[in-house]
Amino acid sequence: MALLDVRNLTVDFDLGAESLRAVDDVSFTLEPGEALGIVGESGSGKTVTALSIMRLLDPRARITHGRIWFDGQDLVTQDESAMESIRGRRIGMVFQEPMTSLNPGYTVGEQVAEVYRHHLRLSHAEARRRTIEMFERVKLPGAREMFNKYPHEFSGGMRQRVTIAAALACGPSLLIADEPTTAVDVTIQAQILSLLGQLQRDMDLALLFISHDLAVVSELCTRAAVLYGARLMEVGSTDAIFTAPRHPYTDGLINSIPQRGQPLQGVPGTIFDLRTPPPGCRFHPRCAHARPLCHRDVPEFTRSPANTPGERGHVYACHYPLDSSRG
Ligand SMILES: Nc1ncnc2c1ncn2[C@@H]1O[C@H](COP(=O)(O)OP(=O)(O)OP(=O)(O)O)[C@@H](O)[C@H]1O
Ligand code: SF4
Ligand SMILES: [Mg+2]
Repeated sequence: MALLDVRNLTVDFDLGAESLRAVDDVSFTLEPGEALGIVGESGSGKTVTALSIMRLLDPRARITHGRIWFDGQDLVTQDESAMESIRGRRIGMVFQEPMTSLNPGYTVGEQVAEVYRHHLRLSHAEARRRTIEMFERVKLPGAREMFNKYPHEFSGGMRQRVTIAAALACGPSLLIADEPTTAVDVTIQAQILSLLGQLQRDMDLALLFISHDLAVVSELCTRAAVLYGARLMEVGSTDAIFTAPRHPYTDGLINSIPQRGQPLQGVPGTIFDLRTPPPGCRFHPRCAHARPLCHRDVPEFTRSPANTPGERGHVYACHYPLDSSRG
């Protein structure tokens, strides 16, 4: 059984006179110990999907359709006290900006130790011991001395290590990391990604890794889900998606990865306003392969034959998919 089974998730924002659908009929699964990347341009619904799983949505947002099965329980129907114990204990989350989850008024050690005291009811001494152990695990140099430091005394990369320590303190089975390296420079980014990969393997963690960068996702994850304008475009193994993308948008994302010495291309055009999505395939205004049918009908998901090597569970929503033998 999948550890996480998101089915037809739909999230609407009520913005007074207007409303918008930030996540539209999105489904994917994550097996225990597996790493799945969610990729897409800014505004495609990646964070809203993650916050739906954590049930930490903005008060103006509501899950209007769908189920989020986690370890056999539907998170959509859990009350706040049930979610409070699931968060932190069974699902950890790391945000883009570490200061979102750190309190500037407390030492980093106290903040992580509090997670142990609150969720596992450990004594002060035991919580401190476990925190230092966790700091070593996330490779914070001089873990013992770090305990009494305040967040402002840390660099962005060190702060992100602290939030990873806090997210993993109670040994969750799922870690959600939402663009965890956007706020740090490239060298630190590589270190944090390698740490996440190592922790995922060592702790047998399922990882839901969110990024706008398909290259990073392909390093860390075995599967990827591509979102565009609140909808899922393609899901499959990172191998299949990279070597033989079937959806033109995925192909555009791959082509936008900068090659050595070449400028960043980007997918031509800009994402539409979610308040007024285009009819038919919502990628059609930017798609070089669009034909009249694309302007009119929403494409259904097609599954590649299961016996095609590297394409297990490869699905895509396109009327005129790219040729799978190109790669
Ligand atoms: N608090 C909010 N109030 C109103 N609309 C919101 C809010 N948060 C998100 N949205 C809407 O939902 C859409 C999806 O937002 P989301 O934050 O999930 O995008 P994202 O894919 O995480 O983008 P990014 O890469 O920039 O983080 C946005 O385009 C925006 O229209
Ligand atoms: S359905 Fe049509 S417009 Fe949409 S991605 Fe496929 S070819 Fe392009
Ligand atoms: Mg986001």
